[in-house]
Amino acid sequence: MPPIITVQNLRKTYGPTVAVDDISFEVAEGEIFGLLGPNGAGKTTTVECLQALRQPDSGEIRVLGLDPRRQARELRKLIGSQLQESALPDRIRVWEALDLFASVTPRALDWRMLLEQWGLAAKRRSSFSSLSGGQRQRLFIALALVNNPKVVFLDEMTTGLDPAARRVAWDLIRAIRDNGTTVVLVTHFMDEAEKLCDRVAVVDKGKIIAADAPQGLIVQHAGEVRVIFTTDVADIAWLEAVPRVDRVERKGLMVEVRGSGPVIAYVAAALVGHGIIPGDLRVEQPTLEDVFLKLTGHSAGD
Ligand SMILES: Nc1ncnc2c1ncn2[C@@H]1O[C@H](COP(=O)(O)OP(=O)(O)OP(=O)(O)O)[C@@H](O)[C@H]1O
Ligand SMILES: [Mg+2]
Repeated sequence: MPPIITVQNLRKTYGPTVAVDDISFEVAEGEIFGLLGPNGAGKTTTVECLQALRQPDSGEIRVLGLDPRRQARELRKLIGSQLQESALPDRIRVWEALDLFASVTPRALDWRMLLEQWGLAAKRRSSFSSLSGGQRQRLFIALALVNNPKVVFLDEMTTGLDPAARRVAWDLIRAIRDNGTTVVLVTHFMDEAEKLCDRVAVVDKGKIIAADAPQGLIVQHAGEVRVIFTTDVADIAWLEAVPRVDRVERKGLMVEVRGSGPVIAYVAAALVGHGIIPGDLRVEQPTLEDVFLKLTGHSAGD
């Protein structure tokens, strides 16, 4: 399937600040694509260029076959936008905002359904200014979807949402994807990128430093697996010779084995073979956070 979004050598500066240095990527139709990176990495600038909200200095962009620089009006009808910095008039009511957005689009969804889905039905008559931070956020997501977009851009979608609302949002985003909408998601939440995205691009200082499926990134860049258990058997030196084992460390009764790939299976088999059957054998897989640390040298919050 041809890509629905292509970005080639995108560059955007603000005076002396290079916000986006040289970014290229493709998004396939029907995937949830994540841009993950620390504050100031250039994520928002990138997606704003894709949505025709900013003019890039150079580079080529196609979204749904359209060039945002020259075809902004056509493009805006086909995409949905939830911006990191959004605002509505204080006194507008929730239903009025949705009704207003729906009235200017030919392919509008039934906004009453969106109210239900995004947990705003009880707030339909409330003014924007009376909504909590998380309720505002959910309203902005609903507004981004009201034109039934082919591609939806969500910038820090779950910031301000409580844990339950985040889970609901993830499920709804998956449902939107399953209905054929392509999702471009900006986030600095590792767990969100890992659980929700089909593919993730790690952005740092205006460049993409890695892009793959979350599991692919983990296997490629943070392959080390730790197998942990306790035993009172003193001699465990033979563990060093077990396939896929790199290092064995002992701290009192606790043993930590570092290795790669299916090391857990080899270690478990070897332990049983030696008559050791630990009740607490567990494996700690690396996460996207480990990948991020390794690639950027700093954690996502820095
Ligand atoms: N309107 C602007 N004028 C000047 N500089 C800007 C402007 N918008 C962004 N920048 C700068 O460009 C760089 C990238 O900003 P951008 O908002 O794209 O980052 P981000 O990855 O979205 O960060 P965050 O996670 O904090 O939202 C930053 O150094 C920022 O200060
Ligand atoms: Mg941003």
